[in-house]
Amino acid sequence: MPTITNLVYLISAVLFILGLKKLSSPKTARKGNQLAMAAMLVAVVITLLDQKIIDFTYIIVGLVVGSAIGAVMAKKVQLTGMPQLVAFFNGLGGGASTLVASSEFYQMTGNAEVNVIATIGLSVLIGTVTFTGSLIAFAKLQGIMKGAPITFRGQQVLNALLVLGAIALGAMLCMDFSNTNLLLGIFVVAAVLGVTSVIPIGGADMPVVISLLNSYSGLAAAATGFVISNNVLIIGGALVGASGIILTQIMCVAMNRSLGNVLFAAVGSDGGSADGGSGEQRSVTRYTAQDAVVMFDNAQSVVIVPGYGLAVAQAQHVLQETAQILMDRGLKVRYAIHPVAGRMPGHMNVLLAEANVPYDLLLEMDAINDDFQNTDVVLVIGANDVINPAARSKKGSALYGMPILNVDQARTVMIVKRSLSVGFAGEDNELFYDDKTMMLFGDAKKMVTEIVQVLKG
Ligand code: TAP
Repeated sequence: MPTITNLVYLISAVLFILGLKKLSSPKTARKGNQLAMAAMLVAVVITLLDQKIIDFTYIIVGLVVGSAIGAVMAKKVQLTGMPQLVAFFNGLGGGASTLVASSEFYQMTGNAEVNVIATIGLSVLIGTVTFTGSLIAFAKLQGIMKGAPITFRGQQVLNALLVLGAIALGAMLCMDFSNTNLLLGIFVVAAVLGVTSVIPIGGADMPVVISLLNSYSGLAAAATGFVISNNVLIIGGALVGASGIILTQIMCVAMNRSLGNVLFAAVGSDGGSADGGSGEQRSVTRYTAQDAVVMFDNAQSVVIVPGYGLAVAQAQHVLQETAQILMDRGLKVRYAIHPVAGRMPGHMNVLLAEANVPYDLLLEMDAINDDFQNTDVVLVIGANDVINPAARSKKGSALYGMPILNVDQARTVMIVKRSLSVGFAGEDNELFYDDKTMMLFGDAKKMVTEIVQVLKG
């Protein structure tokens, strides 16, 4: 039986790896998800059989209740609510690791090995930080808590002391594991640490934090795998830990910010001011859907730049309808995707896939950036930071150094948004005031619907 179990675990691990690989492209992502789901099913079934569980009642009840909750959530949660759902699931993963490791600890009799005790301490520490940290991330994104950073004096010192306290408790536990209060102590310290380390982070930085917490939940699971000697949990946990940290790194690079800056600089606010915080009032000309269509009539190439506002307005379907009409009229239409447009990795890809935009029309920043200078019209929908030239020129700005889409090199730039408000980084955008820019003020869905109506005559 152990040989068969390990063989099945190996198959499951290979499927996880293939699934992850396929998740790296929108074309194959669905297949990747299916492979990973199959891997998980195989791993769960063989574990249950291997453990010779006689009474499956609780497991079946859990399976039915869990599947029902999962199905309802998957159907009900909007795409803009996906980051908080992921945060919630990460939290549950961390919590589960804490529970499994603790139950193993409380069942221990006689002499335990120090390395097992140390791993239990680690699993409870990381699992609980993930649990409470993820709940705070969830509350911020769901609007239950203030999204703006919550800071207080001595916060970082407190966090450092909590980490040191947890390490000290872990060392004491290794020396005297009959003292169960020490594990309880690690649990309490970790629970507080999860809260105090996530509250200073701004709501819009949460995707980076969620990805980091995801990585933590993997590490906690891997540690728990060592505690209960389960190979697939070790492999699965390590894969989650590694992919989570790689994704965190990718997001930080795309924003040109270090992880330290995301975690400690308290960037982001609940909303922006119309003047980018400068207090200066400037005016721009307001254009209409009719004006936009006149520009399209005289254009041969159009690049569409989607951003967070597109997701908020749920304008992806009507946008695709517009693109189709333009293509039917013989225009060359493409979409330019900035790696951190929106609020989560791949946000724009998923949104546009929902509207059946063909994948080959989606171009990543590096593939399209040199082409803006040959483009007649750029249509920016609800994007701001990812096209803000301040990233090139304004030292000291939160955006400075972030690679942006070179939309300002196109012949005409149309920007659809509701006001002159700043984007997530709180930086005023000079492009709004540029002579070649046409500001189309309004909700993205409403404005693009008007454009479609005019196009249809
Ligand atoms: P933002 O810079 O946040 O700008 C979005 C714009 O959409 C806002 O200025 C807003 O202007 C407009 N908007 C909101 N609702 C709208 C609606 N219903 N209709 C029309 N417009 C609407 O978004 P972006 O350009 O996509 O940049 C993303 C930002 O998030 C970057 O700074 C990035 O670093 C950050 N971030 C992203 C990620 C990932 S992984 N994607 C992770 C962490 C942080 P109005 O209020 O005037 O309408």
